[in-house]
Amino acid sequence: MKVTDAKFMQGFIRMADDGFQQGWHERNGGNLSYRMTEEEVESIRGELKKDTAWIPIGTEVPDLRGEYFTVTGSGKYMRNVILDPEANLAVIEIDETGKNYRICWGLRDGGRPTSELPSHLMNHEVKKKATGGKYRVIYHAHPANTIALTFVLPLTDEAFTRELWEMATECPVVFPSGIGVVPWMVPGGREIAVATSKLMEQYDVAIWAHHGMFCAGEDFDLTFGLMHTVEKSAEILVKVLSMGSGKRQTIQPDDFRRLAKDFHVTLPEKFLYEK
Ligand code: 13P
Ligand code: ZN
Repeated sequence: MKVTDAKFMQGFIRMADDGFQQGWHERNGGNLSYRMTEEEVESIRGELKKDTAWIPIGTEVPDLRGEYFTVTGSGKYMRNVILDPEANLAVIEIDETGKNYRICWGLRDGGRPTSELPSHLMNHEVKKKATGGKYRVIYHAHPANTIALTFVLPLTDEAFTRELWEMATECPVVFPSGIGVVPWMVPGGREIAVATSKLMEQYDVAIWAHHGMFCAGEDFDLTFGLMHTVEKSAEILVKVLSMGSGKRQTIQPDDFRRLAKDFHVTLPEKFLYEK
């Protein structure tokens, strides 16, 4: 099968375009990765190169040895993915040590996988283990409202989770485990990857101060929907804060407890502090 005809690739391309349409991907901002199933790899096996060089990942992901990923290219624009997937995306294979990858398809005109590959792969490794292999998507975007909040809210998991839960009743149901916050760090390397993947042990969302957001999920719909929900909530909070006089009323800790009971989610008490 042609790689671009595969269902997972169609889903990947649609998500890249959806993110661009939302305004989350200025220039080359943001990146996306998908851990492919064995059947998906087999379905395009004939199109995959085996003779390309192994390249260091820049970190170690031993639990991902032998896995294949579809990833966006570094410096490539999300808006161009739908027009020319083979030039802007890559299928990569992880070697038996978990330290190197090779490009098996794509990046037709040259290039490398996203500079955030260490963060993507370390997040995949954590989520694969935590979900028994269910989670397959890691998504990084630059949504403006979420970024704006990192200039005014305390950079704590508690503040971001609670403030964003309060902005829309669906939020605690969509991200019950909460949101982690990474302080400002230099992007693109192992250090920020370690910090982010540590948060991913607990959360499906990690916000990078003054930079953007990472979301993890089972499939493209759930992961895009998670980013969309958090950013929508951030937009409401930006509007509320912009109106100046603060909240007159909001959802209270006991309301969240009642919601959790009815919607069968567990909301950690650390986010239900008295203000
Ligand atoms: P890449 O173009 O290397 O994917 O980087 C974009 C980005 O958002 C870095 O954080
Ligand atoms: Zn970024």
